[in-house]
Amino acid sequence: MRTYIHEIDKYIDHEVTLKGWLVNKRSSGKIIFLEIRDGSGFIQAIITQDGVSKQIWELANTLTQESSLIITGIVSQHPKKPSVFELQVSTIQIINIAQEYPISKKEHGPDFLLNERHLWLRSKRQWAILKVRDVVETAIHQYLHEQFFVRTDSPILTPNACEGTTTLFPVPYFNLGEVYLAQTGQLYIEAAIGSVGRCYDFGPVFRAEKSTTKRHLTEFWMMDAEAAFVEHEENMQIQEELVKAIAKQCLKKCQEEFAILERDTTPLEKMLTQSFRRVTYEEAIPLLHSLGSDIKFGEDLGNDDERLLTKESEVPVFIHKWPKTIKPFYMKRDPENTDLVLNNDLIGIEGAGEIVGGSQREDDYEILLGRIREEGLPEKDYAWYLDLRKYGSVAHSGFGIGVERMVRWMSGTEHIRECIPFPRLVNRMRP
Ligand code: 4AD
Repeated sequence: MRTYIHEIDKYIDHEVTLKGWLVNKRSSGKIIFLEIRDGSGFIQAIITQDGVSKQIWELANTLTQESSLIITGIVSQHPKKPSVFELQVSTIQIINIAQEYPISKKEHGPDFLLNERHLWLRSKRQWAILKVRDVVETAIHQYLHEQFFVRTDSPILTPNACEGTTTLFPVPYFNLGEVYLAQTGQLYIEAAIGSVGRCYDFGPVFRAEKSTTKRHLTEFWMMDAEAAFVEHEENMQIQEELVKAIAKQCLKKCQEEFAILERDTTPLEKMLTQSFRRVTYEEAIPLLHSLGSDIKFGEDLGNDDERLLTKESEVPVFIHKWPKTIKPFYMKRDPENTDLVLNNDLIGIEGAGEIVGGSQREDDYEILLGRIREEGLPEKDYAWYLDLRKYGSVAHSGFGIGVERMVRWMSGTEHIRECIPFPRLVNRMRP
């Protein structure tokens, strides 16, 4: 019977057929050990010269790394490790003998591997990261649906900027001149809450930032969530619950992947039992000075500052209420200090850096118009966005999660380029 490796434990002592690829082959005299993967997992298949026909034995000897095959055998439990299963092979059908595979067991540099990304994806580590990514994405959808958020996708081709004009990718658009690839879908889902109350989008966004850090991509996936009648404090609460829901699902579903990635899950487990810390920007600056940073009031937090603030922490830290001068036009002013806005960054632990950015939005027509003018933004392009403040304006808030930042943190991966199947970096577009 055809089955998949991830459910092989149901078939102990039964004959099954697997369809997959050869990861590795070792032989010792009259035994050949084949490591097979089928997409759902990895298993060792054992061929003994006495247990198969001469023809099958010879076929097995011709197998090369990455050859595709159909393999049949009896499932057995590893004599010493009861959670490990093996296949005692009775027959093999070769589908394709792979040519000499460029990725071998020896160490390869990142440039080489990125050039071979279409093949590198097959390696065990990359498989594990892809699986964690799938769990992170599914957990986001699941949590938001449980909280009555409606998926409402936003456009990718957009006429105007949301997060400032410096990081836009322009695209020529027929007779309408230049348009841009979206940096976030936020402004559009702010419109959609007028219809469905709470919603989220999920899709690729683009930033023409010349950042070459381990946390920046030029194309990444973002989930923007937005909710009517939600203010600043509740907005942070939703973010905390969502992040915890993601971590919980990863712990539940990714144990095999975490083992491959050698990811110690203790910090995630500890984090789930505690509340996240909340520090205002005004509190963060002297705290950072005491930790050795030379940041000045009014500056954005650097990578090192984020690390300092979370170094000793078992929980992520919200840095909230930033100076309005360094934040986008749409954030609502803090009624207690109008130089500040009701926003937050959420800094993950274990060096994850900023993983979520959110804010309460300015819902007053005149103040928002004033902010658009102060920033010198083209008023006519934002007329529709201003309209939202004319017809039944309500307090509302939202946030965006960078999916790859979350995957990087959950999987314990050093560089974000491994957290998306085909990374787009400042100096890389291929494959
Ligand atoms: O903080 P950002 O810029 O927030 C927004 O775009 C808001 N409009 C979101 C909203 O309120 N709906 O970006 C949100 C998140 C960041 O916290 C980070 O996780 C991720 O997007 N991010 C990046 N991820 C990878 N590469 C980059 N260049 C990123 N820039 C931001």
